[in-house]
Amino acid sequence: MAASNIHKLGALIAAIVALAIGLLQSPLSRQYPIFHWLVHLDHSLIGMLPAFTPTNSWRYTNEQLQTADLRGQVALITGANSGIGFEISKALSRQGATVVLGCRSPQRCFKAADDIRSDELYSGASVTPLLMDVSNLTKVQQAAKIFLRNNDKLDMLFLNAGIFTDEDNLLSVDGIETTFATNVVGHHLLYRMLEPLLLNSTMARVVSTSSLAGLVWVPKDIQIPTTVKELNDWKPPLVFNWSPDFIQPFYKYGRSKLAQVAWSKALTRRLGENSSVYVNAAHPGAVATPLTKNKNHPPNIPDFVQNWRATLVNNVCWSSEEGALTELYLGVAMDELKEKQVRGRYFHPQSIEVTNSHAESVELQENVWQLSEGLVEKFL
Ligand SMILES: NC(=O)c1ccc[n+]([C@@H]2O[C@H](COP(=O)([O-])OP(=O)(O)OC[C@H]3O[C@@H](n4cnc5c(N)ncnc54)[C@H](OP(=O)(O)O)[C@@H]3O)[C@@H](O)[C@H]2O)c1
Repeated sequence: MAASNIHKLGALIAAIVALAIGLLQSPLSRQYPIFHWLVHLDHSLIGMLPAFTPTNSWRYTNEQLQTADLRGQVALITGANSGIGFEISKALSRQGATVVLGCRSPQRCFKAADDIRSDELYSGASVTPLLMDVSNLTKVQQAAKIFLRNNDKLDMLFLNAGIFTDEDNLLSVDGIETTFATNVVGHHLLYRMLEPLLLNSTMARVVSTSSLAGLVWVPKDIQIPTTVKELNDWKPPLVFNWSPDFIQPFYKYGRSKLAQVAWSKALTRRLGENSSVYVNAAHPGAVATPLTKNKNHPPNIPDFVQNWRATLVNNVCWSSEEGALTELYLGVAMDELKEKQVRGRYFHPQSIEVTNSHAESVELQENVWQLSEGLVEKFL
């Protein structure tokens, strides 16, 4: 190819890239139908981004949420001080629920409680901070005991706290791979300790915040081992004979999020089809939250690039309020859950049911349960 043609091609590619970036930075990027065809190619993408979503109407809306009367109901939300967990807590409180905010940082927890109380639609219902580090089983046990001492009922349990960490090979204080310890095992202990209160509720709802990562960021032959040694030693597969370090956290996050869907199915089987406890999992969508705020790939990114990235994310992703809506559906839409017997299922925005094919394996579901049971046994 002649040099002038190469320059023209380069300029054309640069112009297309610049245009794409410019368009994506526009709030209108949510509405480009051009993105819809991607969902037709791969159904698992449903709900990932607003632009990938086949319809503009939520199956469960803010208007429906606002008709819910949650007075007299008690909700516990983990990771309540930030992002999706904060929006869930605020929305439940607006509808009159007694809300207990489970967070690991006292400052962030008290600030979240103050922010909810000063919200213009605040109902006046009780909002209580509960300090809890879900990666630490002793701390979960202590928090659950405090909850049991202070509350005689629990109607909604949102297992929402989560991490995506790029600090590889980290183990929790209990010697469990940190992402799994935080996203899965700590929540298992919390559920197990609070189960008697949930069983006492006329209709309890447990919602586990999973992710699309549990479907797309795991290898095809993913299994969950039954021993902590195998869990910790697991090495993600090679990609084209290559396994760079930065890929590892994606796989570990995906594995933990798959485990959360499988866990809700294993628990649903244990509870039985006539149980008054409804357990489900949801992917909130790709939501603009601080979840990956500590990522430093590559290091020393200049401020203007960070700002550009933030604008891009805000324009392309769901907002935290939107991200909370699918879980709020599974926590609040009691009549529909009962009528359609919504149990052990998995949802994407906009409250659309999706199948995570890996989580359909009963063996995998049981392994998640057995592994978690073994790890929390001595704390029960
Ligand atoms: N944002 C997304 O695109 C997306 C997509 C799919 C799934 N999710 C899931 O949604 C959930 C909420 O995340 P988010 O996006 O709202 O992010 P976020 O704003 O960073 O919220 C995460 C929450 O989890 C808390 N947390 C983390 N580790 C904890 C621990 N050891 N003990 C207690 N709390 C802990 C955080 O507390 P600190 O403030 O103290 O760190 C924070 O309150 C997570 O489970 C995440 O995996 C998010």
